[in-house]
Amino acid sequence: MEDLNQIVDLAKTAFQQATTSAALEDEKAKFLGKNGSLTALLRGMGSLSHEEKKARGAEINKAKQEVEALLEARRDELAQALLEKRLADEAVDVTLPGRTMGIGGLHPIIKTWIRIEEIFRTIGFDVADGPEIENDWYTFTALNNPPNHPARSMQDTFYVDMVDEDGKQMPLRPHTSPMQVRYARKHKPPIKVIAPGRTYRVDSDATHSPMFHQVEGLWVSDNISFADLKGVYVDFLRRFFETEDLVVRFRPSYFPFTEPSAEVDMMFTSGPRKGKWLEICGAGEVHPNVIRNFGLDPENYIGFAFGSGLERLTMLRYGVDDLRLFFEGDLRFLTQFN
Ligand code: PHE
Repeated sequence: MEDLNQIVDLAKTAFQQATTSAALEDEKAKFLGKNGSLTALLRGMGSLSHEEKKARGAEINKAKQEVEALLEARRDELAQALLEKRLADEAVDVTLPGRTMGIGGLHPIIKTWIRIEEIFRTIGFDVADGPEIENDWYTFTALNNPPNHPARSMQDTFYVDMVDEDGKQMPLRPHTSPMQVRYARKHKPPIKVIAPGRTYRVDSDATHSPMFHQVEGLWVSDNISFADLKGVYVDFLRRFFETEDLVVRFRPSYFPFTEPSAEVDMMFTSGPRKGKWLEICGAGEVHPNVIRNFGLDPENYIGFAFGSGLERLTMLRYGVDDLRLFFEGDLRFLTQFN
């Protein structure tokens, strides 16, 4: 009896000390296994009398049941501990706020682009689109800017390692003006079109970027004067800036493809550049040679063209002092426009 109580106590401590189920099963073998202490006791009953066997057998079986119950209890404990650990490890804090998708917004230049299209569509202008890698002829020659003409260097043009059908190296268009020619050669007058898009020049400072956006405008009919240009462009500015109080000036200028030519400046009315002028547009009456390259007779057709910078217009609209901010992708800057 003594020895049995001792075995049960030993088993109890051994099971308690086992902290994994593998260790617990090892301990089990020491008591209940083939060579376990209780098994040995059962085997050792051979020499006992029948009566003694009965009594002793019952005691040993009782001890065996106790050990089995202890084992079972410990197994449950270990399984429960394991489950609790997993639950803790994989816990989800349902009170944490969810991960939301940030709400995107349009880039300020794209917003300007869309506004320009909307405004010009309401006065009957078509919207056209053309290649950024242009032919030499459309970029220069057709615009009355023949090879070796000094005005070609007005625009510090990027060239691509590609030649056009005339064997000339192809530029990244330095302005949207080639679109005048492309569109006019495919449409019958009256022609009223704008062509917004990307343009490229070797230029970089607070008011220039190597890639920027322009919108070309062209209205050709039998009697479209410089006064029409002023009227249409200033009306556009009033609607774009949503004010009648614009500080704008038309300044005489030179472009090979217009005659007479002007540049349009506008004054900042807010932001760090307040009170300063910014050039926003080159414009003029389409040169007769260009009308000819449209496939039209300059005796019968006349019109105006303009090319306006989208970054510049956007700077003025929001009082932004450095055009490069539009291309840095800094969300602290960009999210202010949405
Ligand atoms: N293409 C000229 C420029 O980029 C602007 C312009 C367009 C001037 C149309 C006159 C007419 O500077």
